[in-house]
Amino acid sequence: MITGATRLAAVIGSPIRHSLSPTILNAAFAATDADWAFVALEVAGGQGAAAVHAARTLGFGGLSVTMPHKAAACAAVDATTAVAAELGAVNCVYRDGDVFVGDNTDGDGFLDGLRRDPGLDVSGLRCVVVGAGGAGRAVVRALSTAGAADVAVLNRTPDRAVRAAALAGSAGRVGDTADVAAADLVVNATSLGMVAGDPLPVDPESLHAGQVVADLVYTPAVTPLLGEARARGATAVGGLGMLVHQAAHAYRRWTGGDPPIDAMTTAARHVLARRQTPG
Ligand code: ATR
Repeated sequence: MITGATRLAAVIGSPIRHSLSPTILNAAFAATDADWAFVALEVAGGQGAAAVHAARTLGFGGLSVTMPHKAAACAAVDATTAVAAELGAVNCVYRDGDVFVGDNTDGDGFLDGLRRDPGLDVSGLRCVVVGAGGAGRAVVRALSTAGAADVAVLNRTPDRAVRAAALAGSAGRVGDTADVAAADLVVNATSLGMVAGDPLPVDPESLHAGQVVADLVYTPAVTPLLGEARARGATAVGGLGMLVHQAAHAYRRWTGGDPPIDAMTTAARHVLARRQTPG
């Protein structure tokens, strides 16, 4: 029940109506009896900073930030964590007393998802990241922070690959298609796979047993890339884990409590399954 004491959190973005964040975070609050509520707010491009300031004025306990406001939120908060500053992108805002702090939990969410299922520690691994947008950059940085031996970045636009690879320090480099077969972990951080008929982000002939292939795309749950990976004996990992675990970090920052991962995952799966049911 919402009372006068209920704390409010929200996701700001555009378009926002298909966001799974309200489902995942309200499930978390319900499962833990946290007196919090979470809503999705449509905020037009160019209004991200105004929305962050408004949330501060309204006493919001936290904000999630998605496209197209991650850079604007980074500039609008009172302080940023090191990871948000380095990425120039904020996906989670929390309060530290009166200070609105901007953080980026995408990279940690990605690593946590892999740790939980399939139980992968990326330390010492050779990794390929395809894609150098916001999600790709967060993953590249997280892999190097977690001790990956090699982080090769492939991207349609080469300049962006160079900038993303720089986030991985000495482990980072711009890769090429030959790196895929030699990698222990292959990550699709492009949007390819969301729409039926999209080309595959890598040549499926390069995939094989012994590799983990992770797709950040979570609709469909099994993308064509993951289908090809499985058919060739690789371990396939969908994008829902990263989505749930980045939200779990937000839950921790906001409430100080332990996020109920299973309840969050179940709620997200339930909504996705309903969306995929015709009619
Ligand atoms: P996000 O924040 O989700 O990462 P983004 O910043 O728009 O979104 O990045 C999308 C990524 O998908 C980029 O790496 C993009 O490649 P470019 O940097 O060349 O734009 C990649 N991408 C999108 N459509 C693609 C396509 N048809 N072929 C190859 N890569 C594509």
